[in-house]
Amino acid sequence: MFEKPIYRRAFLEKLGAGSVGLMAGGLAQGAVAAEANPKEKKQTPASNRKVRVGVVGYGACRFGAAFGFQDHPNVEVVAVSDLIPERRAGLMKACRCDKSYESLELLVKDPKIEAVFAATDAPAHVRHSIDAMKHGKHVMSAVPATFGSIEEGEQLLEAVKKTGMKYMMAETSCYRPDCYAMRKVYDAGGFGNLVYSEGEYFHYHSKPIPSYKGWRIGVPPQWYPTHSTAYYIGVSGGRFTSVSCVGFRGKIAAFQPGANKYDNPFTDEIALFRTSEGGASRMAVTWGIQGHHGEQGRVFGQLGSMIGTKYQGTAKNLPDVARPPLPPKMPTGGHGGSHGYLTNEFITAILEDRRPLVDVYEALAMTVPGIVAHQSALKDGETLKIPQYERPKT
Ligand SMILES: NC(=O)c1ccc[n+]([C@@H]2O[C@H](COP(=O)([O-])OP(=O)(O)OC[C@H]3O[C@@H](n4cnc5c(N)ncnc54)[C@H](O)[C@@H]3O)[C@@H](O)[C@H]2O)c1
Repeated sequence: MFEKPIYRRAFLEKLGAGSVGLMAGGLAQGAVAAEANPKEKKQTPASNRKVRVGVVGYGACRFGAAFGFQDHPNVEVVAVSDLIPERRAGLMKACRCDKSYESLELLVKDPKIEAVFAATDAPAHVRHSIDAMKHGKHVMSAVPATFGSIEEGEQLLEAVKKTGMKYMMAETSCYRPDCYAMRKVYDAGGFGNLVYSEGEYFHYHSKPIPSYKGWRIGVPPQWYPTHSTAYYIGVSGGRFTSVSCVGFRGKIAAFQPGANKYDNPFTDEIALFRTSEGGASRMAVTWGIQGHHGEQGRVFGQLGSMIGTKYQGTAKNLPDVARPPLPPKMPTGGHGGSHGYLTNEFITAILEDRRPLVDVYEALAMTVPGIVAHQSALKDGETLKIPQYERPKT
């Protein structure tokens, strides 16, 4: 038999365990919501209580409204915010909400609001999350948890510990059908330890993608690692302990010397991580590769492997690996139908007073290794140790 993995996932998808029936049969990428599939059982809301939420950020990706807070049966969207008036108005309309604030800083002062979704620009995530938690609000932050700064990541961790508020990073790969299925199989022991895993985020752009104050111009690829690293951390709950990363110097203008504020010369970064299980994980983030787009990953263990949602291996009696149905009328949303699941997880964690799937420890474990990987790429692939942030045993 395989050794018991060092970090077994502590989170249980409680939601799926009791009132929720799991869908039988295989999964397809972008599996649909419960109401769209008559074979799936409908989920009954865990409670009648409505969590009072403030939604912030309606930028280039229109993210504030994209996660379905306004459609969740246990949510009242109390107010919204964006610094730019037209965007603020657009977010009010999209969230069917008649109250708005001129900034997140004003919104967090509203005593009625219990939780904030910060879909703001990446460099502001730590500042906005800490501000909200200091005002007694739970936070769901868009990725990454911290943008290029390990120090800020540690400040985020301290704020979570000090305030006791719930923090969750909305990493979309974690609720893609394949990653969800891999996590289920891992938790059931179907892989044993993972010997090797891979994740990729391919996003070619020859011209910068629009962003608030241009934060996306020339961004080091591994500062945006979580769509890839979720395919190990979000499957096993394990950790990356060291990294060697190779950077590729592409021809795109924003990555030439002096062309970006990060002094970043790399369009693409391919990192090889050592894992806490003694295995290896190859995680790529690329802005300069054409022909292939999107996020994906694969895992290979002592007892079995998974590419997509299909398990191949020797383990028997594995659980159903389909995602459970969402509450009625809750859309799955974008990025492999992950948005609705992330919102549901965050809200349910508040209702059930438990830690959410991607809490601050998992968020830092997915984000900080990429920051170190970029440092390694700047040193021509030198192997560097990765700081570890372990959840206190309760
Ligand atoms: N798959 C994914 O998980 C995924 C995909 C796309 C974007 N994202 C993340 O979502 C976030 C939003 O992306 P985007 O492209 O819309 O960003 P963006 O930079 O285009 O927009 C950010 C918005 O935040 C607003 N904002 C900034 N500070 C504010 C404040 N103090 N108060 C109120 N509003 C404020 C800005 O006015 C702007 O409209 C980013 O962090 C990005 O990394 C994640």
